[in-house]
Amino acid sequence: MTTSLDGKVALVTGATGGIGAEIARTLAAAGAAVTVVGRNAEAGATVVKELNRGLFVAADLTRRETHQSILDATLALFGRLDILVNNAAAHAAGPALEGAEEDFDRIVALNYKAAFFLTQAALPSLIASGAGRIVNISSIGTVKSYAGAAIYNSSKAALDNLTKSWALEHGPDGVRANAVNPGIVVDGPMSAPVQEFLDIEHAVLPTIPARRLATAADVAAVVTFLAGPGADYLNGVIVPLDGGLTA
Ligand SMILES: NC(=O)c1ccc[n+]([C@@H]2O[C@H](COP(=O)([O-])OP(=O)(O)OC[C@H]3O[C@@H](n4cnc5c(N)ncnc54)[C@H](OP(=O)(O)O)[C@@H]3O)[C@@H](O)[C@H]2O)c1
Repeated sequence: MTTSLDGKVALVTGATGGIGAEIARTLAAAGAAVTVVGRNAEAGATVVKELNRGLFVAADLTRRETHQSILDATLALFGRLDILVNNAAAHAAGPALEGAEEDFDRIVALNYKAAFFLTQAALPSLIASGAGRIVNISSIGTVKSYAGAAIYNSSKAALDNLTKSWALEHGPDGVRANAVNPGIVVDGPMSAPVQEFLDIEHAVLPTIPARRLATAADVAAVVTFLAGPGADYLNGVIVPLDGGLTA
């Protein structure tokens, strides 16, 4: 069993910072060429500088026309695509009763719809790869929900289910689709407000058997494993990366 990704090409959305950037760096360290996607060109260029073979493509993924352009740019430079990581996401905290339509549309458009259509656009290349890998970055909130994140958690639940559809429909094409569902990631920017609001030491850590929060490196390690040959028989799996919270 090997985790070497030598010769492979990966595309990571939302990789201009946070967990996505760590995933891009870890895939690159395992040997993959990586396309980094996000809206912030300066941050994207900084991440790409850290990669052996990297490409930044600026795109607002909620605009469908960007999807084919991202694929075209990747194929033009690297000639193939083997690994797609749908990581870009948005969040809005607050009671479901007060959920605004604008937030609903924005979150669903990125977390679910963009992941669907970018994957659809990538599938011909992933099938051509012979060992295509889709890894969706979801959330432990789909397994064990919590109050104040109805739109986000339900958008991620849709992503979990979508993961199974890709797995079922394209397993016979050599494609594997799995999701990684982290709990609070200590260095994941999206959780910063939650970490400020919650008493992590006294209210959260006692509920996590591993007695620590996840790190971006934890997420990237599991993504890299799922992207590699050692995970060839994992398909349609939702991986709770939660230190045992939901055990
Ligand atoms: N942090 C946590 O505790 C935690 C826990 C569970 C799951 N997760 C999941 O892990 C993933 C990364 O989280 P994070 O903490 O690293 O969050 P983050 O720093 O907010 O990262 C989100 C990324 O998405 C990109 N993005 C946002 N809107 C976009 C758009 N319209 N088009 C293209 N890219 C867009 C952002 O880049 P630009 O600004 O450059 O566009 C950014 O790189 C997300 O899927 C999140 O749901 C996080």
